[in-house]
Amino acid sequence: MYSLILPYDTGLADLLALRPKGIILSGGPASVYAPGAPRCHPGLFAADVPILGICYGMQLMAHDLGGRTGPSARKEYGRTRLFVDEGEGPGAMFHGLERRLLCWMSHGDSVLQLPPGFETLAHSDHSPHAAIADRARRLYGLQFHPEVSHTPWGTEVLRNFLYQVCGCSGSWSMTSFVEQAVGEIREQIGDARAICALSGGVDSAAAAGLVLRAIGERLTCVFVDHGLLRSGEVEQVVAVFRDHFGAPLVHVDARRRFLDRLAGVEDPEAKRNIIGNEFITVFAEEAVRLGRPGILVQGTLYPDVIESGTRTAARIKTHHNVGGLPAAMPFRLVEPLRTLFKDEVRLVARALGLPEEMVWRHPFPGPGLAIRVLGQVTEERLATLRQADAIITEEIRQSGLGRDVWQAFGVLLPVRSVGVAGDARTYGHVVAVRAVTSEDGMTADWARLPADLLETISNRITGEVPGVSRVVYDISSKPPATIEWE
Ligand code: XMP
Repeated sequence: MYSLILPYDTGLADLLALRPKGIILSGGPASVYAPGAPRCHPGLFAADVPILGICYGMQLMAHDLGGRTGPSARKEYGRTRLFVDEGEGPGAMFHGLERRLLCWMSHGDSVLQLPPGFETLAHSDHSPHAAIADRARRLYGLQFHPEVSHTPWGTEVLRNFLYQVCGCSGSWSMTSFVEQAVGEIREQIGDARAICALSGGVDSAAAAGLVLRAIGERLTCVFVDHGLLRSGEVEQVVAVFRDHFGAPLVHVDARRRFLDRLAGVEDPEAKRNIIGNEFITVFAEEAVRLGRPGILVQGTLYPDVIESGTRTAARIKTHHNVGGLPAAMPFRLVEPLRTLFKDEVRLVARALGLPEEMVWRHPFPGPGLAIRVLGQVTEERLATLRQADAIITEEIRQSGLGRDVWQAFGVLLPVRSVGVAGDARTYGHVVAVRAVTSEDGMTADWARLPADLLETISNRITGEVPGVSRVVYDISSKPPATIEWE
């Protein structure tokens, strides 16, 4: 099913113009009765569109329709017992599920009194109304979170809502996305020419693939080597592109200018902004040189947009291809993947026939090794990290665990530590190994790599990379950490 994520304050007319089959109101940290709490248009609930409110979304619905929401006598966090009260049968929210379930809760407020017309579908020990409905108006609410992996049967509830209540047929596929995106790109670009920023990763490759389908040879792909790439990466990207795209690729060596601009810079956000700006300057120069000014295609994904901060979401870090862009852009941006998550982009890449090695390539951030060499970025420190990172990559690949981890890489820390080698004291660099599992990069857990594998990685790094005397393993999840260190 095709879905769009929109800000809560999207106008009612704009929302209805999309002719949605159903609307899901998400959770959020606010209290509905707090000043400035996010609200949707009051007319939404009378628009005769099925609505499912989750957590805050349910509380908002209950509050706006004449019920009462307030602080719970006891807050519920984490795994919670749920008792289904509604009858079984097609059309039921809990159709096909057990009567006693374990769900994931995370709330301090509750619906204390139902709005007129509503009934209770399920309760928990401390939430008398853990699932509610006004079937006649097709309005539903869930206090628990069906969307998290810790509510393992949550997808069933979403499916019941979408199929039974909204009447969706489930006919949408990534092929439909490709066709739709190609049509939209044609409209956006018209008969102009464009360049595409290619990084070698699956995102920009999928974006290039879509735009090539839409406008063919009016697109030129440009790969900028900013000197912050991993060992052997330039050659690899050029070769894969040549073998699979059948379109010209312009390779720009911009190593010097990026390193010059980064000289002496330590602040992570400053690095990201410098790199974002310099990218645009290089692309603008290339576009003019190639006689294709005006339109830049990028493989921006939805998490890049969210984490760079939107009007209604907080900034976590500036992704170079979103928030790091200069205010006065010499380009119109075309970003066909802007509404997708990584797992969805991989499906698009498959649908486009891109090679498996590209589809499954681990993500690599646009600012490259600059945000993994913590502190100052110098040629020497880059070389140290490149060597350590190559060992990590090689060992993980050989272990066969590559597909199980979302990313695995090295980070050069801005500290030195004392060691001993050949009976002499050393005072060397520290490399952190970071390996995480994740679905979409928005949350992540540290990968439980086998101790033997970590040992091999550590021994090889300290034995083969000059100046490194200590290797540490990062055991932080996201949140509260992020995947990258900067
Ligand atoms: P964080 O560190 O925010 O990373 O947990 C989430 C995912 O995004 C990648 N990442 C970036 N990708 N430009 C990108 O194209 C960026 O500026 C950027 N910063 C982080 C990161 O590698 C991880 O997969």
